[in-house]
Amino acid sequence: MEEIAYLPNDALVVGTIAEWHQQTWGYLTGRSTAERIAEFEEQFESRRIPLTLVAFVEGRPVGNASLLQSDMTTHPELTPWLASVFVLPHCRRRGIGARLCGRAVAEAERLGVTTLYLFTADRAPFYRRMGWVEMLREHYGGEPVTIMQLPLSR
Ligand SMILES: CC(C)(COP(=O)(O)OP(=O)(O)OC[C@H]1O[C@@H](n2cnc3c(N)ncnc32)[C@H](O)[C@@H]1OP(=O)(O)O)[C@@H](O)C(=O)NCCC(=O)NCCS
Repeated sequence: MEEIAYLPNDALVVGTIAEWHQQTWGYLTGRSTAERIAEFEEQFESRRIPLTLVAFVEGRPVGNASLLQSDMTTHPELTPWLASVFVLPHCRRRGIGARLCGRAVAEAERLGVTTLYLFTADRAPFYRRMGWVEMLREHYGGEPVTIMQLPLSR
């Protein structure tokens, strides 16, 4: 079983996660790996938004999820967001992604968030099973995406 922790002040962990993000979502934002690392450096041990949660197996990072104030340049009115949910391919389909999302939702509830948002290109069914509801569909970064929301209890 994995352990889920706040982003540690550890250059190796941050560099690893920044590289995952660059490879997975680099085409969407045009940000460099160095810019991603600089953003993560603002989130070390953060318990307020923005915050990043990291899943570790035997001390090695295998996945992460973030809570951000803003995640789509086209929707500044929506906040905050569950963003950058990622699990290493060889660790998928054993519940780590769902548990990262569950922990992120618990953090949002702790912070008094009433509605959380996300967008996804192709994982809407994964989030729907966790209670997320489709809100809008549009094109973003040249591909069709679904914007979803999750109402939270206070
Ligand atoms: C999306 C992602 C984070 C899911 O991570 P994961 O750790 O595989 O997530 P889970 O294991 O909780 O669930 C994935 C699937 O495995 C299934 N599953 C969970 N435990 C399982 C088990 N023990 N045995 C078999 N299947 C299982 C889940 O039901 C789920 O099915 P679904 O894909 O049909 O919804 C991962 O695929 C990923 O990183 N993808 C690339 C980045 C990405 O697209 N991120 C989402 C951006 S919105």
